[in-house]
Amino acid sequence: MDAFIYIVSASYVSEGKFRSLANALVAAAPCRAVAVRLEASGDGFWHALDQLAKDGATQIELRPIGLPFSQSLEKWIPKAAGSWLETYEGAPPDVFFADPLQSDGALIKHAAYARVWRKKITPLPKGEIGKGWDEPPAFKHHLLVCTGPRCHLKDAPNLLAALKAELGYARLTSDCLVTATGCLFPCNNGPVLVHYPLGNWYRITDLTDLRTFVAQALRAGTIPQNLLIHQTGKIHETA
Ligand code: FES
Repeated sequence: MDAFIYIVSASYVSEGKFRSLANALVAAAPCRAVAVRLEASGDGFWHALDQLAKDGATQIELRPIGLPFSQSLEKWIPKAAGSWLETYEGAPPDVFFADPLQSDGALIKHAAYARVWRKKITPLPKGEIGKGWDEPPAFKHHLLVCTGPRCHLKDAPNLLAALKAELGYARLTSDCLVTATGCLFPCNNGPVLVHYPLGNWYRITDLTDLRTFVAQALRAGTIPQNLLIHQTGKIHETA
């Protein structure tokens, strides 16, 4: 095998924690390797495939990392890699998908009683667990930004960062509650951004779309029709 791509799916892990795992994996790999995370900032695995193929890799193995690894991602990743192969210009490398780690009995045994540090938990004074988490913040717009794996391939996490920056430039940060979400379903129409309380769903593909959304939907209070893909409550006809 010429190269490995380690694929991590972990929405609530900080960039620092992910990086230290990624560095350890890459250092231990028996060949060239990169690690990507499906739901956070950074390049998706299509970018990694592009880069390794450009560097001359002829065999690339996708190795899912995580216990247990999502069964829906297990089905989806080979399809997404197949789409990449289909659109590749020239002779593509061979791409393989490795079995998730839960199929490795020795690794499961190790996880069951690995010797790791532990700390004693002490009783917590009543109320501390929820301190400061009683009321929703004051805001006018609730923006849900999909950072699910299929939107991630289309740079959705970068959309999240770009949205926060645009809200800052427009001085709208305190008016908006921005929530990163998992898959919202219309992945093929992604990257998806949903605007409540109006319930308008948008497809935001680049910075121009994003600026149009901020200017029209948030500042002017109109609906950018060219970006609209759905409205909450409307039923779609099945084909
Ligand atoms: S991954 Fe974004 S809508 Fe499915």
